[in-house]
Amino acid sequence: MSNPINAPKFVTPQVEAMQKALTEIAAAPEGAPRGLPGIFYGDQDYFEYEAATVLRDAWHCAGREDEIAKVGDYITVRLVGEPIIIVRDESGIKALSNVCRHRGMPLVEGVGNAKRFVCSYHAWMYATDGSLLRAARMKNDGFDPKSCKLGEFHCIVRYGFIYVCVSDTPLDFDVELDGLNDLIGRYEPENYRLVHSDTEIWNTNWKCLVENFMEGYHLSVVHPETLHGYTPTGLAKKAASGKGFTSYNANYPEDTPSRGKGAPGLSAEERHRSTLFSVFPCQVVSIAASLLVSLSIRPLTSNSIQVKWTMSVYGDELDYAAVKHRIKLWEDVNQEDREKLEWMQTSFQSVHANGGPLAGPDYEGTVHDFLLWLNEQNNKYSRA
Ligand code: FES
Ligand SMILES: [Fe+2]
Repeated sequence: MSNPINAPKFVTPQVEAMQKALTEIAAAPEGAPRGLPGIFYGDQDYFEYEAATVLRDAWHCAGREDEIAKVGDYITVRLVGEPIIIVRDESGIKALSNVCRHRGMPLVEGVGNAKRFVCSYHAWMYATDGSLLRAARMKNDGFDPKSCKLGEFHCIVRYGFIYVCVSDTPLDFDVELDGLNDLIGRYEPENYRLVHSDTEIWNTNWKCLVENFMEGYHLSVVHPETLHGYTPTGLAKKAASGKGFTSYNANYPEDTPSRGKGAPGLSAEERHRSTLFSVFPCQVVSIAASLLVSLSIRPLTSNSIQVKWTMSVYGDELDYAAVKHRIKLWEDVNQEDREKLEWMQTSFQSVHANGGPLAGPDYEGTVHDFLLWLNEQNNKYSRA
């Protein structure tokens, strides 16, 4: 899987200067955290450095397990430049390279169900475990079908989400997520059922959406009609963080009804809030008793991302009309955030976009956690 062109090849003086700036931000005195200067969100050299380092070695959420419920079901995805088929075969879920071992044609696109993958170019045929089954008319002394199995990437299913890492040196997933189960395990996230999925392109830097989703400071300002009534900024409370995740609770006002019973093990407080968490670097999630919304952020360039978002429900508490209403609500919320982020992206080249002070832990502590994680990753590569 290793590919020399993906090595961190261009630590330019500018990237070096930015690494130093990140270190300084992480070293800010406690109680005086600062955000990143705009250049981190707008510079294409820095983005390419990130793509070859922190993004490549990280775990990315490809979707929900029940998107491919039956043997042979597959979805296709492109993660950190790698075309991938996520397929369920008899032995479980696999992340296969969507690149024919003959001359490099993608094998499938979109979603579907297949017993075999047949290349549309010269008809090489692969099993759903990636083995090459047939290659017609091949006369070549060096041709060994066994060595022409499709490439495969690391793949883990956790909490009903499918995570993939394209690197030979993935982060230790269990270490990264240590502590997350105490926060969300009682919701039984693996038991939520998919009801909606959509994919969009947003003109923003990937880090902006992580930070935006993970801070409660903007809720009442940006979402006065859609979210303020249930999750006002004033009730946001920082919650647990671990090596590779952070979270906060968006509490509902006391006089509002809870939004469903959900799993039997939930406390009254857990039924009366949404918990927002991020699995660094590119997944942000909102989990509540009856509703689970996840955004998988796929960085494309310094100023564009693909966003795949899914909505899942617990049990049968929400009827068709309620689900439809929640989908519309989330579409509106996403649109409100998108407009803000796309506008903000236009000012990052300014010399005055130099990283302002962050609000306290309950409002922007999650942003601070994310920056600390980025710095830790960054240190790893600067030392290498
Ligand atoms: S490129 Fe796939 S069979 Fe030739
Ligand atoms: Fe928002």
